Amino acid sequence: MPRRQPADEADLTRRLEAMSLKEKVTLLTGGDAWTLTPVAAAGLASLALSDGPVGPRGTSFGGDTPPALLFPSPSSLAAAWDEETAYETGRLMGLKARNMGIHVLLAPTVNLHRSPLGGRHFECYSEDPLLTARTTVGFIKGVQSTGVAATVKHFVGNDSETARMTYDARIDARTLRETYLPPFEAAVREAGAWVAMAAYNAVNGTTMTENRELLTGLLKEEWGFDGVVVSDWQAARSTDASALAGLDLVMPGPEGPWGDALLTSVEQGRVPESVINDKVRRILRLAARVGALDGMDGPGAALQPEDTHARMRELAVRGSVLLRNDGLLPLNPDTLRKVALIGPNAIRFAPQGGGSAHVTPEHVVTPLAGLRHVLGEDVEITVHQGVFPHSKLLPLDAATATDPVTGAPGVRLEYRAADGTLLSEEHQDPAAYWFPLNLGEGVEELVARTRLTLQDSGTHRLSVLGTGHHTLHVPGQAPQTHDELQEGDDIASLLLNPPSHTFVFPADRGETEVLVRVRPQRNLPYPITLLGLGYDVPRGSDEGELDAAVAAAAEADVVVLMVGSDADTEAENVDRTTLALRGRQDELVERVCAANPRTAVVVNAGSPFLLPWADRPAALLWSWFPGQEGGDAIADILTGAEPGGRLPTTFPAAEGDAPVLSTHPVDGRLDYTEGGLIGYRAYQASDTAPLFPFGHGLSYTTWEYQDCVVTGDLTRGLAVEVTIRNTGGRAGREVVQAYLEPLDDGEPRRLVGFASVEAGPSEAVVATLTVEPERLTTWSDGGWVARSGPHRLQVGRSAADVRLTAAVPRSS
Ligand code: BGC
Repeated sequence: MPRRQPADEADLTRRLEAMSLKEKVTLLTGGDAWTLTPVAAAGLASLALSDGPVGPRGTSFGGDTPPALLFPSPSSLAAAWDEETAYETGRLMGLKARNMGIHVLLAPTVNLHRSPLGGRHFECYSEDPLLTARTTVGFIKGVQSTGVAATVKHFVGNDSETARMTYDARIDARTLRETYLPPFEAAVREAGAWVAMAAYNAVNGTTMTENRELLTGLLKEEWGFDGVVVSDWQAARSTDASALAGLDLVMPGPEGPWGDALLTSVEQGRVPESVINDKVRRILRLAARVGALDGMDGPGAALQPEDTHARMRELAVRGSVLLRNDGLLPLNPDTLRKVALIGPNAIRFAPQGGGSAHVTPEHVVTPLAGLRHVLGEDVEITVHQGVFPHSKLLPLDAATATDPVTGAPGVRLEYRAADGTLLSEEHQDPAAYWFPLNLGEGVEELVARTRLTLQDSGTHRLSVLGTGHHTLHVPGQAPQTHDELQEGDDIASLLLNPPSHTFVFPADRGETEVLVRVRPQRNLPYPITLLGLGYDVPRGSDEGELDAAVAAAAEADVVVLMVGSDADTEAENVDRTTLALRGRQDELVERVCAANPRTAVVVNAGSPFLLPWADRPAALLWSWFPGQEGGDAIADILTGAEPGGRLPTTFPAAEGDAPVLSTHPVDGRLDYTEGGLIGYRAYQASDTAPLFPFGHGLSYTTWEYQDCVVTGDLTRGLAVEVTIRNTGGRAGREVVQAYLEPLDDGEPRRLVGFASVEAGPSEAVVATLTVEPERLTTWSDGGWVARSGPHRLQVGRSAADVRLTAAVPRSS
C-alpha cells in the first residue's frame, strides 16, 4: 500500500542515504530551465516548475506554451480585499497546474508597491503590508490545498526593476520588519509556503542568494521555514557563498555556479556535506508534499471545476474598482439603442502585463464580445480606436498569416548558409513570440516567409522583434532594411523586453507573400536572433481616427471608452518612466466626454496612471488587467454586477505627489530613506491629497456606518465590531477598513484590519474585524515591543474616508 504524504523524516533520510554525493549535487541545479533531474535511487520523479502569478504557463517560455488559464493580475486580486477570493484564485490555479503536470507554481509575488513606476506593480499586490500579507496567505493556502507548491517571491527588497540584478536595497531593520517582511513572514508562518525565491538584488550589502542573515538566520531559523529556497533565474552567481548562505536550489540549469564546482567545494571541505544533505532533504520534502516520490500517495485527483470560466469572470468583477459614478451606471440594456465602444484598449484589450508572468490564454473575451453578451443583438455597437498609443504591434495571428508550404496558419522559417543554400526549415506558429533559434553549424541567415491575408487596402505594418540585420521583401516593391543591434549581453532584456522595428508597406486587399531575412548579430553570446513578427492593419491618420471616434461618441446613447496600457508598458525588467497614459489618450478622453456626457471610462491597466480628466466622465471604472474573462466582467459591471474592488494602492494626483518615485539606484544603491512611509501613510504624513485614496471604491448601493465597538487592548489584540446599514435600494458588498492611529507620536495611521460584508437593501450587518496582537507592535532595538500611549481606531471606507472613531483601550 502506498503511504500518505507528507513523508516522515525517517523516510526522507533513507532516500537521502540512497543517493551518491554526485547525484545530490546534480539535483541542486535545474536539469533544464524548468525541471529538476529525477533520481531513481531516491524514488524521486522530475519536479516541474512554472510561472506564475496570473496562472501556470507550463514548462516553456514562448509561442509554443500550452494554452493556459489567464487569471486577473495580482493588483486586481488584492483589490478584492478578501482572503477567500485569494484562496479561490490560488486553488483554481493549483488545479490547473496539476493538470499541466506542474509541481511548483512560481507565485505569489509579494513585493510592495513602493514606487508607482515599478515595472512589476501589476504583478504585486499592494502598497500595504497587511493587505499584501492577507492576500498572500489566502493565495498560498489555495494553491497548496491542491498539492502544488506555492513560491513566495522575491525575497526581499525587489520592489522595482531598474538594475534589478545588482542594486543594493538599503533598508533599515525597522522598515524591513514592519513593512517589507510581513508578507513573507505570513507566507511562511501562517500559510506554510513550501518554496521561497531569493531575489536578484542585494539587501544591505549582500546579494540575496548569498544573504545568510536573511535566508538562514531569519527565514529558516527564526521563522522555521522547512521548504526550498530557489534562486531567481540566474540570480545565483557564486558557489560557496550561496551554498553556505542557505540557498537550496539553483535555477535554471543545467549550467550554473554549483554543479562540479560545488562537488569540488565539498570534496575540499569548504562546504560541509551536511549542508548539501540539508538542501537535498528539503527538495525531497517538497517532492513528498507534491506527490513526486514513489511509494507515496500523490495529493489526489485534481478536477478543474466545470464552471472555472464563470468563477474567473466573477474574480475579475471582484477586483474591479468603481472610482466615480454620477449615476450613469449601471446601464439598463433595455433603454439602449446605440452604444459607442471607443479607445485603444477596446480594440487591443490588455488582459495581462508582460514578462515572465505572461501566459498564452486559451481564449480572451474582448470588451466587444462582453458587451454583445449583455446587450444582445438588437443594440447597435460602433467601435473606434481613436488613438494608437502602443509601442509595438501585436504578433501575427492565424487569420492573417499562412505558412506558404503547408498552408497551415503560421510562418515558414528557413535556415540558410552564407551562399543562400537551404540547410533546414521548419513551421512556426503565427504568434510564436520566442523563436527558439539555435542557429547550428553554418547558418548565416534566417528567412521567415508567410502569406499575409490582407483584409483592407492601404498602408500595412509588419514588425520584426529581436536583433540583427533585417530585410523585408514585399512583391513588386524595393526591399527595406533595418539594423537592430543590442549593446551588452543581457539576455533577460532581449527576452523580456525585445526591441521591435516596424516596416510599413502599401498593399491592396488580398493575399501577398512577404519574406523577412535576418542576419544575426554575431557578437552576442547566445543564439537567439528573431523573436517574432507582428502585424497591424491599415489605419487612418491620427487626426482622422480621433475625429471619427468623437463623431461616433456624439451619436451614441452611451459611450464606453477604454483607455489604459499594455504588456509592453507594464513589464518585468524595466520600470516605467512616466505615470502619464501613452500617446494622445488624455486628449481622446477629454474630447469624447465633451461630445457625450453619458461616457463611462474604463481604465485597463495594472498600475496607477495620472488621470488629469478624472472628473469629466460620468463614470470611471478601473478594470486592471482582468484576465481572459475580462470582457465579460467589464460588461457585467457596466450593466449592474456589484463592483467588488477597493484600491490596494494610492493613486496620485500628480507625479511629484508620489512619496517615492525614482527607482534608479545611485552608485548601485537604492536607499529606502523614506522608511515605512510609503503609500497612504506618506500621503497623510505630508498632508497631500491623492487623486483616489488607498481603500477607495464605490458600491452600487450606499452605506451608513452606525456603530463601532472595540474590545481588547494593545497587548492582547483587538476585536472590532462595526455595524453598517445598506441604505440604498439594492444588495451590495462593503469592505470595512480599520486604521490604527497613535495620538502622541505623530505617526500616521496604518491599516490593522478589514472585513468584507454583504447586505440586502435596508439591512444592517455587523462586520467583525480581528486585530492580532502582532499587528499592534513595533520593531525596536532588535525585537518586537507592544505599542503604548493613547491610540484610536478609525473605521471607514478608505484611508481618507473615516466614518467612525473609537478609542483603543490601554493595556491593563
Ligand atoms: C523572474 C521570476 C520568474 C523567473 C522564471 C525571473 O526573471 O524575476 O519572477 O519566476 O524569471 O521565469
